[in-house]
Amino acid sequence: MADGDNIRVIIVDDVRETRENIRKLLQFESDIEVAGVATTGREGIQLARDVSPDVVLMDINMPDMDGITATENILKELPHIQIVILSVQGDPNYMRRAMLAGARDFLTKPPMVDELIAALRRAGKMAHEEKQKAEVRYQTTELGGPLGPGDFGTGASSYGKVIVVFSPKGGVGCTTVTTNLAVTLHNAETPVVVVDGNLQFGDLTIVLNERGKNSIVDLAPRADELDTDIVDDVLITHRATGVKILAAPQSPEQAESISGEQYGKILAYLRRLYSYVIVDAESALSDIVLSAFDASTMVILVANQDIPSINDARLFLDLSDVIGLDRDRILFTLNKFDKRISITPESISENLRKEIAITIPVDERAVLPSINRGSPFVLADKKRPIARAILSLAETVRLQLAELESVNE
Ligand SMILES: Nc1ncnc2c1ncn2[C@@H]1O[C@H](COP(=O)(O)OP(=O)(O)O)[C@@H](O)[C@H]1O
Ligand SMILES: [Mg+2]
Repeated sequence: MADGDNIRVIIVDDVRETRENIRKLLQFESDIEVAGVATTGREGIQLARDVSPDVVLMDINMPDMDGITATENILKELPHIQIVILSVQGDPNYMRRAMLAGARDFLTKPPMVDELIAALRRAGKMAHEEKQKAEVRYQTTELGGPLGPGDFGTGASSYGKVIVVFSPKGGVGCTTVTTNLAVTLHNAETPVVVVDGNLQFGDLTIVLNERGKNSIVDLAPRADELDTDIVDDVLITHRATGVKILAAPQSPEQAESISGEQYGKILAYLRRLYSYVIVDAESALSDIVLSAFDASTMVILVANQDIPSINDARLFLDLSDVIGLDRDRILFTLNKFDKRISITPESISENLRKEIAITIPVDERAVLPSINRGSPFVLADKKRPIARAILSLAETVRLQLAELESVNE
């Protein structure tokens, strides 16, 4: 985090005037930076995850979730953050509840400028100290990184889930799984966006037979200030189903301009708008893919029934701890399964010490024409074994996500 000694503050208040007044009061303080504003408790939680501020200035009465509940939620995930409650109520009862929720300080509205600044400096100092302590703890716990915003299991139920489809080896079927899973999970209540995670040679739009002039290149520079209009403008609609697509850049050299950090922020934003954000990751542990893992709730690891693919899957599973990916969040899928091949799913599962969640059969007659049509094969014939495998993958994904959520509540 490149914030130096600055105190990064976010303001959570449903009244615009209050937000603007506070911004004004703080504008001449060179050590205090307003890193964002949110207008409801739930938005505040998400914003805290996204920008990891030092201090949250939190209103109490807000439409969707009150500030005390939001305080509890933020501190559960991001305990170094210091919360200063800002409320019209001078009621000692509120004050006690706020303190019990873990708030650091309590100001009544409208706050006096000196009071506000003194409270923010106190809280900011505490936040920096807490962060330092956490860093020392981290350095003493070897390789496994501390979980950051959007990490595994931290997804609030009101936001969507990021699912990354990945294989260390190319050509095993990640794009096929992504597109078919996407159209299966997509409906009016649970809208889906698919995101190309191969910025140089992504083929999501080609496989879905959609063209558009916009791509992730148009979002990346604005990753810190996204809004629904900008995002709607850039996403491409798969006309047959309504699934949204965030396309890879049109030419490979544009890929370099997009950082892992920007990619992660874009995923974090899409999760607010879509129930499932499915990333078709490239077969490499690039910054982009690592950011996608960081932002993800679940990773679908795809392998084929051949020795090189199984070996690579094992290497990846062995590495998962090191890159901060909990094995329980990895759903292992065997694609292009052919019962005539002597390597059995049981032996693969034993070898990798990982259960195969779903086996998808090889079926060229279903897959190839579907790619030429630009229409995922599950849409054509739901009774075919390959389509049934995708339906049960979707079911498993739903169940597993619900389970992960209940464990983390
Ligand atoms: N279950 C399957 N049966 C037959 N062919 C498949 C199956 N899954 C994928 N394919 C084919 O394998 C090739 C690679 O698939 P793709 O999804 O593009 O892999 P990746 O994205 O991992 O590179 C494609 O030609 C695709 O049609
Ligand atoms: Mg692919």
